[in-house]
Amino acid sequence: MVSLLRRTSLLLGAAALGFAMAAALVASRTGAFEPAAYGSLEMEQVREAFARPQAVPHPPDNPPLPEKVALGEKLFNDPQLSGDGSTSCATCHDPRLSFTDGVPFGEGLTKRPLSRHTPALWNLAWAPTFFWDGRADSLEAQAKVPIEHPDEMGADLEEVVARLARDPVYRGAFQAAFPSDPTVSAANVLKALAAYERTLVSPPTRFDQWIAGDDSALTSQEKAGFGLFIGKAGCVNCHSGFAFTDHSFHDIGLPTNDLGRGPVLGVPEVNYAFKTPGLRELAWTAPYMHDGSLATLEDVIRHYESGGVNRASRSADMPAGLDLTDDERAALVAFLYSLSSDTAPRPSTEPWVAIARNEPVRASTAAVRGATVISQRDKLFTPGHVVVRAGEPLTILNDDTRTHNVRIFDPRFDFNSGAQEPGESISLRLPSEGTYNVFCGIHPTMRLTIEVE
Ligand code: HEC
Ligand code: HEC
Repeated sequence: MVSLLRRTSLLLGAAALGFAMAAALVASRTGAFEPAAYGSLEMEQVREAFARPQAVPHPPDNPPLPEKVALGEKLFNDPQLSGDGSTSCATCHDPRLSFTDGVPFGEGLTKRPLSRHTPALWNLAWAPTFFWDGRADSLEAQAKVPIEHPDEMGADLEEVVARLARDPVYRGAFQAAFPSDPTVSAANVLKALAAYERTLVSPPTRFDQWIAGDDSALTSQEKAGFGLFIGKAGCVNCHSGFAFTDHSFHDIGLPTNDLGRGPVLGVPEVNYAFKTPGLRELAWTAPYMHDGSLATLEDVIRHYESGGVNRASRSADMPAGLDLTDDERAALVAFLYSLSSDTAPRPSTEPWVAIARNEPVRASTAAVRGATVISQRDKLFTPGHVVVRAGEPLTILNDDTRTHNVRIFDPRFDFNSGAQEPGESISLRLPSEGTYNVFCGIHPTMRLTIEVE
């Protein structure tokens, strides 16, 4: 059972699914949330859905040697990575401030306010896309952007590399970090930064103690808040799993001119949609949202109660007509604080965070032959792996409650479904042999492998 729990907690999709069942069970009950009110099975499902992972996924081409992680941390804190030597990653992502800057809009070397709020950097090893609009698809690719952004660090990455290469201490550190390619290069700077960032796992809090079975770790008010979070308030529709994010993009109705994910995908149906942030360590990361517009957690909850701007792009996952009593609102806030450390958080030192793992942890789904209809229910492609013949039609049906966007980025077959609304289906005929990776642009943890024979 233990190994099953571990595996489930690493598969975000499966965890969300297990959780959806638990939420349905909770919703079918009335009154306050009391773990004792669950049958043992239901509580077990809650535990599975929120259990901490047991390994950090690292890409195979960037294994986390301790020397590399240490080099990444040094680079992260070094203002030499900026054009004028004034600004480091830590200027905005301050490790003492939970990797944020505490203001609505941070500023870099030009002291001009940026156009989006600085996010915290917790638990990004599990994220499939980066930035509020998801425009970067790896931490390695992301790290180049702030270094070269004129208002952030204003540098030329090649000039930074030349500067570091003149420093014998850095040369030695790169040799130790990259034994099979011991050079100070742009690629290795970005790999070291990314390897370090993957170790920024949020530390366990009282909530994790409770999930691990210590019933006294949360107060009854906090437990009631959790009950609302996974029940009546519908927060878990988007904030799921141990990091409290579905890694997807939603318009939650904030008044903003920023179009977010829409222009990145070329799909206006997801205008104003932003990446769901995780909810760890919020006590240390105010203000909130992509525009830093909400100062307190109470303001955030009142936003969800008001529902925000009612426009066509607003997410179908938003709770409709949420109306909380003062006690309920206070309970929800108390629960959210139970996901924060009592003192300024440091990255987790759990042993598994330091274990080098070269293989990303993935679902090993058995391939289904000639499946003609693929389901998208509950933000999952089912089956997730199919084998078809070249030219054979394959149907992807949106039997979910939300809009999806089926994409294939492949030189042999480039595909963008546009907005695929609930009830709509897509027919694909892949022309040539090979393996094709399909994902949803709005919910990028949705993955489908198509093998064409
Ligand atoms: C001047 C402030 C500033 C500096 C310096 C800065 N960042 Fe950021 N960072 C931001 C802002 C603002 C965003 C959000 C931008 C957006 O979404 O368009 C961001 C986003 C990110 C993200 C995406 C997080 C997520 O949840 O998707 C990562 C990762 C990141 N920064 C890492 C770094 C690294 C590594 C460096 C140094 C090489 C760095 N940042 C330097 C302000 C800064
Ligand atoms: C429809 C999906 C969805 C639902 C439901 C939802 N959220 Fe969110 N949440 C998001 C997205 C997306 C953002 C970022 C929005 C932005 O910046 O424009 C966000 C942001 C937040 C933030 C700010 C975090 C930060 O670091 O800035 C908090 C706190 C939060 N949500 C809590 C909640 C609570 C509590 C509930 C239930 C009452 C809830 N959310 C329901 C998707 C959702």
